[in-house]
Amino acid sequence: MINNSHQIIFRLPKKKDARSVMKLIEDSPPLDVNSLYCYLLICTHFAQTSVLAEQCNETCGFISAYLHPERKDTIFVWQVVVKKNLREQGVASKMLNSILHRAYRVPLHYLETTVNPSNKSSNALFSTLAKSLNAHLVKSLLFSEDDFGGEKHEKEMLYRIGPFDILTKEEI
Ligand SMILES: CC(C)(COP(=O)(O)OP(=O)(O)OC[C@H]1O[C@@H](n2cnc3c(N)ncnc32)[C@H](O)[C@@H]1OP(=O)(O)O)[C@@H](O)C(=O)NCCC(=O)NCCS
Repeated sequence: MINNSHQIIFRLPKKKDARSVMKLIEDSPPLDVNSLYCYLLICTHFAQTSVLAEQCNETCGFISAYLHPERKDTIFVWQVVVKKNLREQGVASKMLNSILHRAYRVPLHYLETTVNPSNKSSNALFSTLAKSLNAHLVKSLLFSEDDFGGEKHEKEMLYRIGPFDILTKEEI
């Protein structure tokens, strides 16, 4: 008999998940930890474009994302996190795919995100995604260190992946 108890489930986040999402992010440097209010908003207003990974009823992965306000065929991926003991096993890639395969009002053709130059795993994740979508990956500066004022913060490079065509599976 196959034991599926450690199976990872991918689903839309709910309001009750905001605390566990925040805890996972707190445990995952170098991510910026935002307020609980921010995670409550993501898990409600932006739930349709975000994803939560769960194992044994515990949050083990999360992606916050939203449709770009000016480019409706573009999804912007904000924070991506996977619990330490589950990294490099394809969990983040599966979360990205689960978001990309939803049926949106306007079909998605681009994914944008930002990557800190020192974040090798993040760079690897999105480079692999671009390859798997057979799409271009164009990098440009979105926010410089100066944009963060006095806060010591690495620059944020914009990665724009696309154009791509995706078969949608999931109605949202
Ligand atoms: C970035 C992060 C989400 C990646 O999650 P993950 O589940 O380990 O990613 P995946 O297993 O789906 O890997 C996707 C690709 O990236 C590669 N990769 C992941 N981590 C890597 C690392 N540290 N070094 C080199 N390659 C790496 C994988 O090998 C895979 O490529 P492949 O399919 O060509 O082999 C995870 O490392 C994390 O939570 N880091 C802390 C938070 C963070 O920095 N988030 C990103 C900024 S928002």
